[in-house]
Amino acid sequence: MVGGPVAIIYHSEHHQNTKKLLDAIKEKYPVDLLSLAEGKKPDLSQYKLIGFASGVYKGRLHQSLLDFANKNRGELEGKSSFIICTSGSKNERYVQHFRQFLEDGGMNFLGSFHCRGYNTFGPFKLIGGINKGRPSKEDMEQAVSFFEKILTGE
Ligand SMILES: Cc1cc2nc3c(=O)[nH]c(=O)nc-3n(C[C@H](O)[C@H](O)[C@H](O)COP(=O)(O)O)c2cc1C
Repeated sequence: MVGGPVAIIYHSEHHQNTKKLLDAIKEKYPVDLLSLAEGKKPDLSQYKLIGFASGVYKGRLHQSLLDFANKNRGELEGKSSFIICTSGSKNERYVQHFRQFLEDGGMNFLGSFHCRGYNTFGPFKLIGGINKGRPSKEDMEQAVSFFEKILTGE
């Protein structure tokens, strides 16, 4: 179990799909949600446990998360991490890629949660999008349970 305050650094731009999961977690647990879209560098010194959350855009979690983790490697090294992700296809390679990236930077990886999110990108827009209604209520409940397990170290 990793004690102390928890931060989740995120980027959620398409339909706020990823943010919906984070808001469900925040309703139940005190967690600091830090958006990278605001362009500010969050102060990480107080956190031993840091989550990274994003949609998938062209095969990757958002570039701002990669850049952030890269720039702050020194500060992140040795801390514990987890990933929360939404995507159109739920291809596990997306999370694998980012996990490897965090581990290469010396972070301790505790787990990931990944579910489908409403997607109207490109040709999907023509058919009204895919994964309507996702993340669903059930997805949000599962994200909260995932977070609970991360907190309790189960
Ligand atoms: C520009 C763009 C590129 C995307 N590329 C992918 C992709 O490569 N693979 C995939 O499964 N979903 C892809 N999606 C779908 C998003 O990952 C999905 O809708 C996600 O839930 C968006 O999260 P957000 O609303 O938090 O931004 C893409 C969406 C956009 C807008």
